[in-house]
Amino acid sequence: MHLLNTVAVALTAASTALGAPLVSKRAATVNELVGYGAGTTGGGSGAGTTVTTCDALAAAVKVGGVIKINGMLDGCDIIKIAKGDISILGVGANSGLKNGGFQIRKVSNVIIRNLKLAVAPKGKDLIDIDASTKIWVDHCDFASVGMTGDKDTYDGMLDAKHGSDFLTFSWNKFHDHWKGSLVGHSDNAASEDTGKLHVTYHHNLFENVNSRLPSVRFGTAHVYSSCYNNGPTSGINSRMGAVVFVEENSFTDTQLAIVTDLDSDLEGFASEKNNLYVNSSKRITQTKSLTVPYKYTIDPAASACAIVRKSAGTGVVTF
Ligand SMILES: *[C@@H]1O[C@H](CO)[C@@H](O)[C@H](O)[C@H]1NC(C)=O
Repeated sequence: MHLLNTVAVALTAASTALGAPLVSKRAATVNELVGYGAGTTGGGSGAGTTVTTCDALAAAVKVGGVIKINGMLDGCDIIKIAKGDISILGVGANSGLKNGGFQIRKVSNVIIRNLKLAVAPKGKDLIDIDASTKIWVDHCDFASVGMTGDKDTYDGMLDAKHGSDFLTFSWNKFHDHWKGSLVGHSDNAASEDTGKLHVTYHHNLFENVNSRLPSVRFGTAHVYSSCYNNGPTSGINSRMGAVVFVEENSFTDTQLAIVTDLDSDLEGFASEKNNLYVNSSKRITQTKSLTVPYKYTIDPAASACAIVRKSAGTGVVTF
């Protein structure tokens, strides 16, 4: 197979308005699926079913297709998605789950977009992807209670494990929590995870999140044009032979923005290109280059924060 890798670097336009970001012209398309999750079609393009209660949501995910959530549904607990070919979309800027989350298990072809997910049930993830393929999580807002209290009260914001594969996580805001995004849950999962867990993270905001931005064991991750602010412990953590390629990201106040020798029995690999570091550190102990098998458009690190603050999260792509 011939792997194509065409990268268009945006020519940035300087804004002269006082106080405006110096460079913020966006080249990447906001409403487009790019990366390892490409080809995910979810529930297709129909109008679908709109739900306004937890019971209706739980019933709708058993049927599949396009499901629109209208409003913040409180106390749904974990909604189990056990049927593929499904899209779960938020209506407007303020729809999603409060005190709830999703578990996507043993399915393929799932799209989740434009949802606010704030505070998982105790001990649980906001989105947990298990043994599933072709998942696109886009323009969501993941939040919790901040870096306060016991860091294990809640689990991750967007985790993928048990041999999940072909994932794109784009234009999301992850903020105010201990644990960001875990890819590969255990050093002992080599048999199910080796050669799997391909994930693209692009145009995400990680702000006030302690670690796992993301953490990747065994897998392959491409992280580009994202904005990192205040990560006090570790950022992109490559473990157990994982390969991460990190390009055109802006790191501010982020400790170990990229690290390859933390927390696991075996080290990971990293390569990086054109990242911006302000009061941020990194420790790459072994490098390996990654050529991704898709086309993508990067925005330069100097513009990443302005772009992502404006165009990531909910209310940008609406349904
Ligand atoms: C540098 O970043 C750390 C977080 O990693 C933060 O606690 C500290 O206040 C920052 N220092 C400055 C001078 O901004």
